[in-house]
Order: sequence, then C-alpha cells, then structure tokens
Amino acid sequence: MSKVNLRELLNKMTTKQKIAQLEQLAARYFTKNKTDITGPLRDLGLTEDELKIIGTNLGIGSVEDMIDVQNRHLDEDPNHIPMIFMSDIIHGFRTIYPIPLALGCSFDDQLVYECSRMAAREASVGGLQATFTPMVDCIRDARWGRVMESCGEDPYLNGIMGQAQVKGFQGDDISNPGNIAACVKHFAGYSAGEAGRDYNMAELSEHSLRQVHFPAYKACVDAGVKMVMPSFNVLNGVPSVANKWLVNGVLRNEWGFDGIVISDWDAVYELTQHGVAADLKEAALLAFENGCNIEMMSFSYISHLEELINEGKISVDRLDEYVMKVLEFKEELGLFDDPYHGASSEDSKKLFLCSEHREISRRAARESAVLLKNDNILPLDRKLKSIALIGPFANSDDINGAWSCAGRRNECVTVKEGIRNLLPEVDIKYAKGCESYLNDRNISGFEQAIVTAKSADAVILCLGEPSDYSGEERSRTELTLPGMQLELARAVIDANPNTAVVLFGGRPLELVELDSIAPAILHMWFPGTEGGNAVSELLFGVYSPCGKLSVSFPKKVGQCPIYYNYTNTGRPKSRYIDCDKFPQYFFGYGLSYNKFTYNSMILSSHTIDKNSSIKVSVEVTNEGCMSGKETVQLYLRDLVSSASRPVQELISFKKVNFEKGETKTVEFEITEPMLRFWNADNEFVSERGEFEISVGYADHMKFTEKFSLI
Ligand code: GLC
Repeated sequence: MSKVNLRELLNKMTTKQKIAQLEQLAARYFTKNKTDITGPLRDLGLTEDELKIIGTNLGIGSVEDMIDVQNRHLDEDPNHIPMIFMSDIIHGFRTIYPIPLALGCSFDDQLVYECSRMAAREASVGGLQATFTPMVDCIRDARWGRVMESCGEDPYLNGIMGQAQVKGFQGDDISNPGNIAACVKHFAGYSAGEAGRDYNMAELSEHSLRQVHFPAYKACVDAGVKMVMPSFNVLNGVPSVANKWLVNGVLRNEWGFDGIVISDWDAVYELTQHGVAADLKEAALLAFENGCNIEMMSFSYISHLEELINEGKISVDRLDEYVMKVLEFKEELGLFDDPYHGASSEDSKKLFLCSEHREISRRAARESAVLLKNDNILPLDRKLKSIALIGPFANSDDINGAWSCAGRRNECVTVKEGIRNLLPEVDIKYAKGCESYLNDRNISGFEQAIVTAKSADAVILCLGEPSDYSGEERSRTELTLPGMQLELARAVIDANPNTAVVLFGGRPLELVELDSIAPAILHMWFPGTEGGNAVSELLFGVYSPCGKLSVSFPKKVGQCPIYYNYTNTGRPKSRYIDCDKFPQYFFGYGLSYNKFTYNSMILSSHTIDKNSSIKVSVEVTNEGCMSGKETVQLYLRDLVSSASRPVQELISFKKVNFEKGETKTVEFEITEPMLRFWNADNEFVSERGEFEISVGYADHMKFTEKFSLI
C-alpha cells in the first residue's frame, strides 16, 4: 500500500485539479510524436495548465514516450499525481495473436487466458497499465465491422472468453508489473446497431438484453473487471453513457459494479449530436449523473463541472467520490509507488516477440483456424516437389487484423515464409493473381496465376478481406470476397484442381460459390504475427485443424442478422423465396483431419430438481489418422416455457485431445441453474418441464435425450 494518504491528497486539491482527474486525453497531446488515434480529433480548447493535471492518458506510442510523459507530468502536476496510461490491447500488444472472433473459434479459454497474460506482460513493460478489453458484444450481423473484436454470437461462449481475458490481463493483483487493468465494453447493444451500420441506434427489449446481450458483461463484472465502457449507440432511445436504466440501474445497482465507468471516445460530447443534450454542459451533467467516472476525449467535465457545482446541480461530495475512485484505482495499480508500473525500454526489447510469445501466438493461430471444407486434399504431402502459392494473401503481411496495437506488419510471418520455414526444399512458385480490394476489376495477373497453378503439384490459394475492411467504422452492405478473387479462384482451381484455399478476414463472408468450387477451405481469420507458420503447420498436417465457428456464416447478406440460437417460428415455412433460412456454415461447425465418432451419450438420470444434477457421459473415438482435438459441445432446448426459447443453446463445451484411435468419455454435469432463463416478466427463473440435451452442433446433433425438471 502506498505511503500517500489519498484523503489528504484529495483535500488539498482544487476543484479544477479534481475534475481533471476525471479526464482522459489522447497521448498525442502530450508527446511530440504522432500516435495512432481511434476517434475524431477536434480542437479541445485545453490550456497548457490543464494539460498538466489530466488524470489519464490514451494510446501512448512507446515505452520511452510513456516514461518521458510520466516524468514531465509528475514534475508539472502541482499534486504530482501519476497518470494511468491506457490503450486498446485487443489481441496482443507487440506479439499479435488472432483476433477475438478467431479466439472464440478455439473454444479454449485457457489458451485465451495465456494470450491475455502474454499481452499484459508486453503492455506493462511497454508502458501501459490498462486495456480497453474484452469486447463482449454479442454479434449477429456480419455487416458490422466490429464483429472481429468479439468472441462471437453465443452469450455463454462470449462470457467464458471474456472472463478468461479479464483474468488474463488483471492477474491476481494489478499493482504487479505484468498485470494491467481490463475494461469490458461496449455496454450495451452496440452490436445490434440497426442495419449493421456502426454507431447506429439499437432497439432491444429488456428480455433480449438480459437473455442475449447482458450475460457476457455480467460474467466479466463477476470476474472482477476494473472498468466498464458504455457504448456509443442509442439504446432504446437513450445513448448508453446517459442511459440511467442501463448504467446506474443495471450495472451499478443491480450488479453492484463499483469500479470505473469510462466513456467511449468523445461519447459524452456526442450526446449533443444524439440530441439528448442541448450543449456540452448538459452532456456533462447527464454523463456525470449516470456514473461516468472518466470522460474520454471530450472534456465536457473540465469545461463545465465547476459551473454545475456552483449552480448546485452537482455536489462536491459526488465529485470527491469520483475523484477518490480514480485515485484509489491509481493506488491499486501501485502507481504512487512505481509510476512506471514496470515500464522498461530494456526489458521490452527482450520480451517483445520473444520465442515464448511467438509460440503462444502460433498455437493460438492454429487452434483458432477453422477447416470449412476438405475433399481429402488436406493435409498436403510434405514431400511435394513444388507448390503454387497464389493470391493477394499468399505473401502478404496484412494478417494482424484491426486493433493490432503495437504489432507491426513487417514482423508477421507470411504464408510464403511459413511454408519456406517448414519445407526449406520445396519449390515455391508465387503469383499474386489479383488484389483484394472492393471494385478492383484488374485481372491482368490471372494468366501468370494460371500458368503457375498448372506448373505445380499443388496450389495454396490465399484470399480474403484486407484488415481495414473490418474493425471500427467498417460496416459493409455486402459480404462478398472483394475484387476479382472469386474469379481468380475459378481460374486457378480449373487450372489445377489440387487447390486448397486459405481465407483471411475479420467477418463471415458469403462463401456459397467458393465452397462449390474449392476442394478445401481453411479459415485463418487474422492469425497475427505467427500466421504463416500456423498456416503451413496446418496445411501440411503437422497439426490438425480443430477450430469450431464462433459465428454463423450467412449464405447471403440478406439473411443478416443470423444466428444459431434462434427461437422457432410458428410456421416452419419461415424462409425467403430466394434462399432458405439456414447459414452456409453453422456456429459450432469445424472439420478436422481426423474422424471423431460419437459412440454414446448417457444420462445418469432423466429427472432433476433444484438440489440434484444429471451427469452426461459422452463417449468419443478418434478414428482418424493422427492425434487431434475435438470440442464436444453440449446444447440445451427448453421444450415448453412461459417465454419462447431458442431451438438450442450452448450450455457447456469441452475441448479434448485424442491420440490416434483413442476413445475417451467426456463428462458434463447439468444443474438447475443452467436451466434458468429470463421469462416474460424479466425474472431469471427455471421452470419445471421437459428439456432436450444434445451433443454435436446445430443441425448435426449426434445424440439427443430428454429429461425433466421436477
Ligand atoms: C474507440 C472504440 C473503443 C476504444 C476507444 C479508445 O472509438 O469505440 O472500443 O476502446 O475508442 O481507443
């Protein structure tokens, strides 16, 4: 515990100094070097003196800058209060691992925990003490660019992965260098923006919020997340940062969250744009009254809180309460004892991209990849004499994805480098074929690609969406492979049918056409720094793919929003005249080089009550050619209840490694709390009656058994 008496410190601060502790400013205002910004920059009208007393910093570009800025700040701030340096460490700091949407496909929360631990170590030594992660928005509409930041469409999986990130980043004590504070976002309903358009309004019933969108946030609050970030969007008429029911009501009073609420970039100012605040002063009042402790990049607080206090609209006590919360946060981070929290230029050079971290990144990339199709051409033979490596992603370093923090594209292992690393002797014939940009119609590279394809034993065709086609402000109205990539695939596969397609991207795309012509499709998402090595280890069978989709792939964009845990319609004929209602690939789907046979599912009982449980034993055999992992997924269906329930809901999963030929029994336990849901009266209850339990996924359930809650 620091020697600083926070109450004494607070009592000697002026009102302006107190208010400044509640402001967060982008690093660029403190450093001479340009740093990346993630939101609109306006002239903020801050004085030099105000700059000296700002409480927290966003997006510092280097450890050297952080140390320099912190030193100057400690010197110039009359109270010598250290700043907290925060940033978006979403899927890695310098060593980048797969985007969260891919991590969801790993169905491995321990792996996600390890990735987060690694990122926390690198970020901490790199000068950061807090990250705006995990994003646990439940996604259902691939038009939205930020689907890449979420671990998928399932509330339960999102919650498990969100908790793994919170625990991974925060460790057991955030004052220890190597641990940093986490922030769950974007609370709430941001992913339900109308028409998949970023920042758009969302209309969600309380039932839908509680049943689908809230559980993952609640899981992170229960895991001890230090911060919560309300979302930009209007939710049921009121922007989240001013939405009293949402923040003061649900988050603070119902869930008992007593940590820091931090607005999103400029979101307080944007209350004036949403038309719920006449001016910045009213915006400040709305956000402050709704429990927003730190205002990110809009400065309504420093401009108007003192006025509002003088007008009696805000109490000094409430201001002191918020400021004390920020000071206590800084103390919990140990910043009064070590304002650098272990930041070290020397240590960062040893830690960044070290072999241990590269191994974690590579493992995560392998485990997150999803084999969508394989007409027995994968794995490729490592004794091949020649490989045609074709496509815009065949030798591209654009494989980190959006939000890759301090990651550098030129530090990525490309597919071409990965194959060379694994097979130093093979003859790699490379042809780009075409670009991967929307509206690019150039096919001048096709001829070379065809010749190259014909000249090789096998073809690896690398296609996808550029990393700046997903992420913030990256909604699309179509989900096509950009440019002439599909045409390139037709030409190349026609030239050499022994072609495996490798996909890169940050959202589900329409792949019906590609699936009809490609003998094999391996989806790598944005795999990060070690992507190329992971691709080659999978394509050539060093490891078998084992990922399962964390998100549904629509056949057509017109099906969006689409998701697996839908409620039945009164008529099975609910479909389109030009398409059925099912996705091209289901949530939970993913192939392997092995064949996992589900031999049996046995229930210890077919009745359960509030004090008992049912053991579910699933016997699985790996009848394949190599060792490999299988994620055994357990789904529930509540057959009759007071509210219409989804046709299936993931309630548990276990990822299990099998040796070749090995049989294992995978056990689950069903308890009454797992059967609870939000009923029509918004009560979280279980109801007596019949349920179905299934193992498998979507429309490929291996076994289904009934049981009753009595
Ligand atoms: C952005 C994003 C948010 C991010 C914040 C800080 O606009 O909405 O996810 O954490 O600004 O960069």
